[in-house]
Amino acid sequence: MNKPAVFVSREIPQSGLDLLREHCDVSVWPHDRTATRDELIANCQGKAALVCLLTDKVDAGLLAAAPSLKIVANVAVGFDNLDVAAGTAAGVVMSNTPGVLDDTTADLAFALLMATARRVVEGDRLVRSGTWGGWGIMQLLGQDVHHAKLGIVGFGRIGRGVARRALGFNMSVCYCDAIRAPEEVERELGVTFVPFEQLLRESDFMSLHVPLIPETHHLIDAAALRKMKRSAILINTSRGPVVDEVALVEALRTGVIAGAGLDVYEHEPKIAQGLTALPNAVLLPHIGSASIATRNKMAEIAAENVIAFFQGRMPPTALNPDVLKTPRA
Ligand code: GLV
Repeated sequence: MNKPAVFVSREIPQSGLDLLREHCDVSVWPHDRTATRDELIANCQGKAALVCLLTDKVDAGLLAAAPSLKIVANVAVGFDNLDVAAGTAAGVVMSNTPGVLDDTTADLAFALLMATARRVVEGDRLVRSGTWGGWGIMQLLGQDVHHAKLGIVGFGRIGRGVARRALGFNMSVCYCDAIRAPEEVERELGVTFVPFEQLLRESDFMSLHVPLIPETHHLIDAAALRKMKRSAILINTSRGPVVDEVALVEALRTGVIAGAGLDVYEHEPKIAQGLTALPNAVLLPHIGSASIATRNKMAEIAAENVIAFFQGRMPPTALNPDVLKTPRA
């Protein structure tokens, strides 16, 4: 029997490819750059599955132009690059990789928080510059993390992971979310549910863990930034467009807030003008889930979704499982 043809839009960890190759006829985009939309469409011709990354936009147009596709497996937990409704309308299953990257991303959010508060990157630059004149009592004074107030926006698995880490630093943790967490979770993590406005006003550190949906686009805009403490530090490991990046640059430049630790940007890989010149911003290149073990697991879950689909089983992390009742012919 012919193996289903799968296009993988960019090199992914070997463990995922090996799994796919056991069951499918796999071709992988050979270049060290994201395929353009036309290239993506061309490479999906005749393919039954697409394994894609968050840099690939999969919408109604692409699904119509690639009529052989039956499943699209995103190697990411965030799926704002997928039009799931379009997938459902076209009878195409879509999946993501939830669960396996929560701790890794929470680790990175905390690393950014620590680095921004304690000016780790500025210190590193100073030592490397060769101009460091030795210990100084007034040198690179930062902010305490321990006993500070942490506001978590979005209290899903990753937000809760950040709260768990904050416990070890004796932080006082508040959160807001569209849905309040069960009482036992609040008790276990020692967190308090507060309105967003209060979180903005009271947090020393604010960490964003919401998905990018219309309601969260520019959730942190100029007005929100103005409500924050002037000493506050904003951490974003969610999606760039949750923050109005131009407004953030202005706020960081003029002291409306004290600092920001960012892993994501509004128009990746472009960075808003002025951001890279700001010493009070720590900037990472979207590496929240980038540990070897976690990226392996993400690739494997994407592969498992594809394999399950072609074996007639429910893809384990399907976003639109109902499609299986009426899949694309
Ligand atoms: C990374 O940003 C992801 O959504 O997995």
